[in-house]
Amino acid sequence: MATLEEIKISAKNNMSICKMCKSCNGETCRGWTPGPGGKGSGSSFVRNIAMLKHVTLNMRILREDAEVNSTFDFFGKELAAPIMAAPIANVKINYGSSVDEMTYLQALGHGCKQAGLMAFLGDGANREAFEMPLNLHRELPDHAVMTIKPWLLDQVFSKLSEVKACRPRAIAMDVDAAGLILLKQMGVPVAYKTVEDLKKIKEYANVPFIVKGVMTIEDAQAAMDAGADGIVVSNHGGRVLDDCAATIEVLEKIARYVNKRVKVFVDGGFRSGADVFKALALGADAVLIGRPFSHMAIGGLQEGVALYAAKLIEEFKECMRMTGCITVQDIRRSCVNVHF
Ligand SMILES: Cc1cc2nc3c(=O)[nH]c(=O)nc-3n(C[C@H](O)[C@H](O)[C@H](O)COP(=O)(O)O)c2cc1C
Repeated sequence: MATLEEIKISAKNNMSICKMCKSCNGETCRGWTPGPGGKGSGSSFVRNIAMLKHVTLNMRILREDAEVNSTFDFFGKELAAPIMAAPIANVKINYGSSVDEMTYLQALGHGCKQAGLMAFLGDGANREAFEMPLNLHRELPDHAVMTIKPWLLDQVFSKLSEVKACRPRAIAMDVDAAGLILLKQMGVPVAYKTVEDLKKIKEYANVPFIVKGVMTIEDAQAAMDAGADGIVVSNHGGRVLDDCAATIEVLEKIARYVNKRVKVFVDGGFRSGADVFKALALGADAVLIGRPFSHMAIGGLQEGVALYAAKLIEEFKECMRMTGCITVQDIRRSCVNVHF
């Protein structure tokens, strides 16, 4: 069985664009979009990572020992931990991957299932880029969530009817993709969405609906007005707006405002179980992790994804153990300090 280090080396050899840096922090790939990087100066990706280091954990161990329970309920599906793979599409164009898209998707989905986690799946400009994740979703209805792009409404409804046939737990939409360079370059019609648009989409989906790409309380309110069941605090990994706030900086304010009315997920720069713990202490229900999961799929297929997932879960449980949290509900604001 390969080690994580061996899988990283294999990932590096299997990618011609992404450099598989020791720390995936957005420095080397500043401005590489299309590519794995952040938009423009790349500062939003870099900041996502940097600001996470300004949250520290409070150790608390003088208590009776007890078995930690890291399980999390995702709209009725119990997961091993509040951790999910973020949707990452088009690994050939973005990473220069020698592993084809379907093999990558299979690795991601089955690796997450093996570890008891959930994989969000992306959507793309052509029919194939939608059909491949859809086929995987059909195979793994309980471990995958389709993330539809904010196409014009007719196209959204037509895609939703196909996703609904997969008996989904939930459906997501990355509303911030309205700002994606790759789609703009391809002349693909994505559009900004109003509350009225989102209401129609939620009504048509008729399953838990997650709005991905919320960075302000105003947009959180708009998503709730539309009847969304969850939001993802996300700046698309720094790929849609340069000089954007880091997601960890805005998370607490948004989660307090939402006040448990809908689920709050977050992504952007989360790399370890400790990072996941920080997000939960600042009000998130669960965390999505993007680039590292795709590296593991490209470098080690299902085994690589499952190995990284197991490492994340173990790190997360270790943080719970060392801060006196027995269940995820015990993780609270006083478990961390915020230095920004
Ligand atoms: C190469 C690449 C492709 C992506 N494709 C999608 C996509 O198809 N749909 C989507 O909602 N987000 C997409 N994202 C954004 C991720 O879902 C996620 O928000 C972001 O990567 C999280 O940051 P992290 O990679 O630092 O963990 C993509 C990100 C990257 C780097």
